[in-house]
Amino acid sequence: MSRVPNVAIDGPAGSGKSTVARLVAQKLDFLYVDTGAMYRAVTYLALKTAVNLDDQDALGSLAEATKFSNVRFCSSGGDVALWCDGANVTPYLRKWDVTREVARVAAVPMVRHCLVRSQRVFARSGGVVMEGRDIGTVVLPDAEFKFFLTADLDTRIERRALEMSGNGWTVDPEELCRQFIYRDEMDLKRTVGPLKAAPDAVVIEGTALTADEIVDRIVTVCQGRVA
Ligand code: DC
Repeated sequence: MSRVPNVAIDGPAGSGKSTVARLVAQKLDFLYVDTGAMYRAVTYLALKTAVNLDDQDALGSLAEATKFSNVRFCSSGGDVALWCDGANVTPYLRKWDVTREVARVAAVPMVRHCLVRSQRVFARSGGVVMEGRDIGTVVLPDAEFKFFLTADLDTRIERRALEMSGNGWTVDPEELCRQFIYRDEMDLKRTVGPLKAAPDAVVIEGTALTADEIVDRIVTVCQGRVA
């Protein structure tokens, strides 16, 4: 019997990946895995325990020691939460200090090695929609379906600002713009697992599309083999 397929969704910050991946997972009744949340969790734990962010060995050891076996991603319309080491760290992952530092932590090869290993375990049996930067290229190069979402910078910033203000956060558009440019550069230029479309990914330019329209395109592509 053939395995239930996996769906890889990559793209830069603000391209709509999280919203889209979550909705696709609901429609297909798949597990949703937000890999960015895992890099954020390591960053949060490093800041909380005062690990020096220039110390790659210490960051690698932290990622290695973090028990991601307790990670829980709830799909099917429920809350999406990330647990590690027995604690729900979700409320801390989008804080400014974590967002500011996460690209540095995500560039550390040892950190990536540890998290990629855990991510592959989640997808072992198929039936996962996984979103990130390197899912189609590195984490799940054999994923049955791969998508790469893009949108222009202004649109991405606008979407993130709306999401943040919707969550009751104060938004400084200039700071947001600086962060997006910095993180894009870090994500594109790092040597291990850079942000890149897999050669066999369907690229969706989403500047003029709503999240529902993107979801429909993805589900239409997947449906033939998932149904
Ligand atoms: O998607 P996000 O904004 O939550 O991602 C947070 C950071 O983690 C971002 O700087 C990119 C990085 N990341 C990564 O390097 N690889 C992934 N698979 C997912 C996220």
